[in-house]
Amino acid sequence: MLHLADSLHIEDETELQGGWRDLADVLNAGADRVILYGPPGTGKTYAALHYGTLGVPSERLICTEDLTTADVTGCWIPVGEGRWSWLEGPAIRSWRLGSRLVVDEVDRASGDVLSLLLAVTDTDGSAQWRHPSTADVVTPHDDFSVIMTTNIERLSELPVALRDRFPIAIRIDRAHPASVMRLSSDLRGPALNGSLGDEDRRISLRTFYAFDQLRRSLGAQRAASLLFAEQQATAFLDSLVISNLRP
Ligand SMILES: Nc1ncnc2c1ncn2[C@@H]1O[C@H](COP(=O)(O)OP(=O)(O)OP(=O)(O)O)[C@@H](O)[C@H]1O
Ligand SMILES: [Mg+2]
Repeated sequence: MLHLADSLHIEDETELQGGWRDLADVLNAGADRVILYGPPGTGKTYAALHYGTLGVPSERLICTEDLTTADVTGCWIPVGEGRWSWLEGPAIRSWRLGSRLVVDEVDRASGDVLSLLLAVTDTDGSAQWRHPSTADVVTPHDDFSVIMTTNIERLSELPVALRDRFPIAIRIDRAHPASVMRLSSDLRGPALNGSLGDEDRRISLRTFYAFDQLRRSLGAQRAASLLFAEQQATAFLDSLVISNLRP
């Protein structure tokens, strides 16, 4: 069994709640295809890159309309004197080395890349790729795993066949406990709750990090005024005071 607490930089996995608890459980149980979805700035990509990877560096694909199939599996590049060399792409490298492949913002991938992802993320036994120069057949290493991330809330917007390759989808709606340890102590509780409550006014980890940094030299009022609209700045500062009054 993987002991995620070490890679999560937390004392005890039982501290985890909600989607983070589910992620720890499924990775501990050996799941190798997971979708993490939900609001921005909760630590989905960070978790996908680092958790349960046993220290083997992960490969990351950031899907945009401009990402091409060559960026996924590889392409020929000129190496001078009319010669060409095959540059292996992150997906095949990850297959070969048995590392984690992180497919970020998967909903933004173009049709071609989505089709290729069906092959790259296919279940063991079905997945294979032929090297264009050696014709060697490459299949995924036993330790290969994929985590896809997205901000879409309705996973039915993903192609059915891609979704089917990922039976486990976990909604992450709060910051990871380890991520808030980078913040000054008075910000940790609010950051963990995504303070200011409702979904529309959730404050992402990135905003908390920026607030913490700016306030060191500019003071809390000025930092809040630079990061939020007027009313939200006041509400944010008030909620910070209130949350730190609580025992
Ligand atoms: N466990 C963690 N430890 C330290 N820093 C973290 C942790 N989790 C997240 N962070 C930091 O928080 C910020 C946001 O994390 P991340 O990019 O993973 O969010 P996300 O949920 O993928 O956001 P988006 O949906 O916008 O892509 C990053 O700066 C990241 O380095
Ligand atoms: Mg992300």
